[in-house]
Amino acid sequence: MNADNIVVAAGAPAAAELRRVLGHFATGVAVIAAHDGTRPLGFTCQSVVSVSLDPPFVSFCPAKTSSSWPLLREQGSLCINILAEEQSALCRQFAVSGADKFAGVAWERAGNGAPALAGALAHIEVSVELEHDAGDHTVVLARVGDLRATEGGKPLLFYRGGFGGFTA
Ligand SMILES: Cc1cc2nc3c(=O)[nH]c(=O)nc-3n(C[C@H](O)[C@H](O)[C@H](O)COP(=O)(O)O)c2cc1C
Repeated sequence: MNADNIVVAAGAPAAAELRRVLGHFATGVAVIAAHDGTRPLGFTCQSVVSVSLDPPFVSFCPAKTSSSWPLLREQGSLCINILAEEQSALCRQFAVSGADKFAGVAWERAGNGAPALAGALAHIEVSVELEHDAGDHTVVLARVGDLRATEGGKPLLFYRGGFGGFTA
C-alpha cells in the first residue's frame, strides 16, 4: 500500500477516541537524537518498534509537526536512547518544542556521532533507511548499528498519558 491508498473512512473515530483507546497500549519511551556538527538535537518518542532481526531494522514515527525531525533526518545517523525509569523529567524536557532540550543533560557522542544520553537503559545507533508517508506522521525505518544495554536497569513506561515503572 502506498500513501495514496490511505483513506479516512466515513465514521472514522475522533482523534480523542483514538488517543484514549490506543493509550491502553503501554510502551517504553525513547529520546531519538542526532548531532549536526554544532549542536545536539532530539525529541521524545514512544513509537519505537523492533521490526527485523535480519537485516536489523527498527521503526519509529515522527509527527509532521516535529521541528526536530527534519534536522535529525538531515544527519541520518541517530541514537535511540531508551529511557530508564527515573528519567521521566528528561522525557518531558525532550517533548517541549523549541526548548533548550539538552540543558543540564549529560551526554557523549556515540560511535556514529549521535548523542548518547547518560543513564539511558539502552543506546541503539541507527541510520535512516527509508521513510513512508503516514497521515500526520512519517514511518521511519532505520538500520541498527552498534547497540548496548544496561543489564539490570528498569524501563520508563508510558500508559494512558502517565509514566510508571515495570514490575515483573
Ligand atoms: C511519552 C511521549 C511520547 C511521545 N512520542 C512521540 C512519537 O512517537 N512521535 C512524535 O513525533 N512525537 C512524540 N512525542 C511528542 C514529541 O516529543 C514532541 O512533539 C517533540 O519533542 C516536539 O519537539 P520538536 O518540535 O523539537 O520535535 C511524544 C511525547 C511524549 C511525552
